[in-house]
Amino acid sequence: MCGIVGFTGSEQAAPILLDGLKRLEYRGYDSAGIAVTNDNQINTIKASGQLVNLINKASDSDVSGLCGIGHTRWATHGAPTDTNAHPHISNDRMFAVVHNGIIENYAELRDELIEKGYHFDSETDTEVVVHLLEYYYKGNMRKALIKTVSKLEGSYALGVICSDFPDEIYTAKLGSPLIIGVGVGENFFASDATALISHTKNVIYLEDGEISRITPDKVEVFDCTSATINKTVSRIVWNIESAEKGGYEHFMLKEIMEQPKALESTIKPNIRDGKVNFDGLNDLKSNIKDFTKIVITACGSAYHAGCVGRYVIEELCRLPVQTELASELRYRNPIIDEHTLLIAISQSGETADTIAAMKECKNRGATVLSIVNVVGSTISKLSDFVIYTWAGPEIAVATTKGYITQIAILDMLALWFADNLNLIDEKLYTDLISDIHTLPERVQRALDLNPHITSLAKKCSSNNSIFFIGRNIDYAVCMEGSLKLKEISYIQSESYAAGELKHGTIALIDDSSLVVAASCQEQLFDKMMSNIKEVKTRGANVLAVALEHNSRIYKEADNVLVVPSTNPLLVAIPEIVPLQLFSYYIAKERGCDIDKPKNLAKSVTVE
Ligand code: G6P
Repeated sequence: MCGIVGFTGSEQAAPILLDGLKRLEYRGYDSAGIAVTNDNQINTIKASGQLVNLINKASDSDVSGLCGIGHTRWATHGAPTDTNAHPHISNDRMFAVVHNGIIENYAELRDELIEKGYHFDSETDTEVVVHLLEYYYKGNMRKALIKTVSKLEGSYALGVICSDFPDEIYTAKLGSPLIIGVGVGENFFASDATALISHTKNVIYLEDGEISRITPDKVEVFDCTSATINKTVSRIVWNIESAEKGGYEHFMLKEIMEQPKALESTIKPNIRDGKVNFDGLNDLKSNIKDFTKIVITACGSAYHAGCVGRYVIEELCRLPVQTELASELRYRNPIIDEHTLLIAISQSGETADTIAAMKECKNRGATVLSIVNVVGSTISKLSDFVIYTWAGPEIAVATTKGYITQIAILDMLALWFADNLNLIDEKLYTDLISDIHTLPERVQRALDLNPHITSLAKKCSSNNSIFFIGRNIDYAVCMEGSLKLKEISYIQSESYAAGELKHGTIALIDDSSLVVAASCQEQLFDKMMSNIKEVKTRGANVLAVALEHNSRIYKEADNVLVVPSTNPLLVAIPEIVPLQLFSYYIAKERGCDIDKPKNLAKSVTVE
């Protein structure tokens, strides 16, 4: 949540900061601001609402200067007003701060600072940071920052400027992402690489507890004792086009369309000579037999990917698998020990609840394997083993290619386990490998097979509530289909295990209901047909999601979304595609802000 950015060099900072914020807006978009140093003076502009308000304000203001910091906010403490927007400025106007994270002990620090005579303008937790800097500053910024962060509890990625050092930026990090971009005669920092990629592909990943001093020609990194740390410069592998819309109206549509490619990039490196081969898992092979269960943990869509993974792993490996919401797992007293393999799934690699659940399970002895999209993210660093999805940067808040590639990894992981546990016969293994190879094509076909989606979406867009029902993997897909729909179109929608309907939910079904019935598990098709009849009898309109060539479905369903046939264990991947498109076109029909749905943020770094 919240995006931060900084620049120091020989060009005007404001346009660079605003461009960086534009690329980070998916992290939070309820207010934004920038601060720029000029002639030992700091000028700030802030605006509530989406970034465009700040851009308009900036065009009428004088914010010239070659060094500055910026912030786009997802409000936690204090409403999204101009005053609560970052950067926050010290009482003596010498320091400005942007912050991503939460200062948990801010109330106590605030009282202490008020007692010392500081006055607060905002209701934010962040403002304590800037007053602490003023309090501790005796001419040495590094010392003041080290002292300041030593007082902070919680999580932070901080960007700081000081009017005494007009071309310098200081950063500090604990538990929130921060990357430094290394240029020539100019340097940057940002919450993630999307804001840097148009300027440089050379980056330094800051670790927790590290602080940095960034000047146009130099990046220095220190620990909390002020000792210098030698950092390596890494190269970002993707290019600027991946972070731009490329002619599509929305990032979400672009990312839906990119799914065949994202799948191919995720599958290809992990299958060699007809075998699943995860390079990073070689050391796991020797103790694979020691695991008595697998726990999968994640949030949001990544949790839904985990729900699919559970069916596949249990089926192929005959190992008990639980899929747990990270926000629940972290506060339970879970039965987890050294015989547990924890699989944490996260697109961003920064989700606070997932991180906390991982730590909790690690403390109880679990081995942690993570499935992550963002290289160098917190989750990847905390894990014993990491498998990357190669979906490329995902900008739309509602995940699509991130989710689908997570399932691809889980499918391959299930095969890898089954093979290493000697539990799978050769024929099934070979068949599944060749089916996995064809998944990118099947997703492309799922994109092509449903030209009627736009008109269908038009018809369904005025529904006030939409139910999703399914069984087995179809049910897991329904969870994601329903979430996609509600998060971008704001239509009330829930998913149910089809067999559960009659235990309560069917009371809600009448002739105004639309029921999406996912029916791609052939072995359960007759059961689904019974459920479809049950809701039809009560007047519901049924939109089925069914395999192509399944003609029986047309007898009961009012409309059908078509999914290319594949092995039932793998079908979630093509099956979600028409549901993503369905949600997208409904949201478009309703005039929603598809890439930036209200109240949401892409990377949820707070509890
Ligand atoms: C947010 C996003 C979701 C995502 C979830 C988990 O809620 O809007 O799309 O599924 O966080 O994020 P992660 O980065 O851990 O996959």
